[in-house]
Amino acid sequence: MKSKHFNIDEIISNFQSLQENDITYPEVSPMEEIHKTMQKRSGQLILECGVRKGFSSSIFVYNSELNGSHCYSIDIEDCSDVVESTAWSFFQCDDTDINKILSQFPEIEKKGIDILLIDSLHTSKHVKKVLYNWFPYLNKDSIIFVDDTDSFNYRKGQKKDSILNQINWDEINEFVINFSRSNRSQISLVQFHKKSGLSKLYKSSNRGELPLKLSNHNRFIGFVSFIKLLKKIKFW
Ligand SMILES: C[S@@+](CC[C@H](N)C(=O)[O-])C[C@H]1O[C@@H](n2cnc3c(N)ncnc32)[C@H](O)[C@@H]1O
Repeated sequence: MKSKHFNIDEIISNFQSLQENDITYPEVSPMEEIHKTMQKRSGQLILECGVRKGFSSSIFVYNSELNGSHCYSIDIEDCSDVVESTAWSFFQCDDTDINKILSQFPEIEKKGIDILLIDSLHTSKHVKKVLYNWFPYLNKDSIIFVDDTDSFNYRKGQKKDSILNQINWDEINEFVINFSRSNRSQISLVQFHKKSGLSKLYKSSNRGELPLKLSNHNRFIGFVSFIKLLKKIKFW
């Protein structure tokens, strides 16, 4: 494979210093978790939403060539030249437009998705739409990665300080947690808090199963604040 913007051999060789079952990440990157996951699986059909310069695409494709997988990547911009490989297909499209994508890549409907990466528009509304649209096409024992679920880097005084990103990242995280709780009979969630955070959802239900609607178990914020105050003054 060829990666236009990344020295993939160097990146992978840094990742390789990982020991089996090691929970530390030398490059401190969620991409290492994606690489680690790819190393343990073979014959995967990957749907990647969001390509830009092709960092995640390169990791997927590098491993796909080794383990007989194929990565289908979608971006609203033209990213068709970021990777060159027979294990990679790119389509310029909105990632929520499933009809257009399925007619471009009928394999997705035929085989189902084994790994879905959601890393396109960073709003909870968009992430929700992508996840609910693609959920029925996810195979049993598939994995959903949602990138950017930890806002810490965007908080006050942090190196990427941005109130808007902080809000968006927090809302995406809240959605992911709420989604997995609402669907706990078919979803198990694991989260990584390195860099901008990564959520990994394991799906145990069969392909075609529909996701349940989000359930709200939040208490009224004023009531919570009142109880907190009572706690503070040692009344409770
Ligand atoms: C954060 S970048 C992707 C980074 C990439 N996954 C990586 O790790 O290198 C987000 C990308 O999503 C694309 N994007 C934004 N909205 C989109 C949409 N509705 N459908 C598909 N792609 C979209 C942008 O054009 C941008 O290239």
